[in-house]
Amino acid sequence: MKTIVLATGNSHKASEIKALLGDLPLDIKTLRDYPALVMPPEDSPDFAGNALVKAEAVAGSTGEIALADDSGLAVDALGGRPGVFSARFAGEGAGDEANNRLLLRELKDIPPEKRTAAFICAIAVVVPGGKNYVVEESCRGKILESPRGEGGFGYDPLFYYEPAGATFAEMDPGEKNKVSHRGKALRRVRELLAGLL
Ligand code: IMP
Repeated sequence: MKTIVLATGNSHKASEIKALLGDLPLDIKTLRDYPALVMPPEDSPDFAGNALVKAEAVAGSTGEIALADDSGLAVDALGGRPGVFSARFAGEGAGDEANNRLLLRELKDIPPEKRTAAFICAIAVVVPGGKNYVVEESCRGKILESPRGEGGFGYDPLFYYEPAGATFAEMDPGEKNKVSHRGKALRRVRELLAGLL
């Protein structure tokens, strides 16, 4: 059986990815299985570049197929910010609450109809001695003026998904997965890997 290494130490992400790839004939490992591996900085200007750099590093060090993702929120009125800086919008090590507060502050004069945004997710798969693949998916919504809902993480309580009439934090995880940037990208990667194996 082939091994795939997920370039993440984040157990939430790893289990989400494992759930979607679980029925493929793959031995799924994560960075926790390679504690000595040093990851490169995520300094690319776009999600695809960051995902690829991470997957290349992991495939290069382990000799196994590697999968890496990079995601974030692009707000139209902010010219696509916070974008690749989504996790550290309010500063290095800033938590979700601080990031959400800063987002609301930056959008305080922007009327509802102009608060459009997209979550974006890029996933790279690197096959040692083979090809590199990158898929990117997005999900459009609107940034509310105050948070709603208890579920999810990151900017979910501010991200209103119109077709569901709810924020991502108000949707159950399965419902979010069906329409989210990450869910859509992972389903494409699943098809890609199924074709490779
Ligand atoms: P990374 O993909 O681990 O670099 O995370 C990027 C950041 O984007 C996260 O820390 C969140 O702030 C934000 N983000 C990415 N995907 C989501 C999502 O599905 N919901 C809410 N926030 C997200």
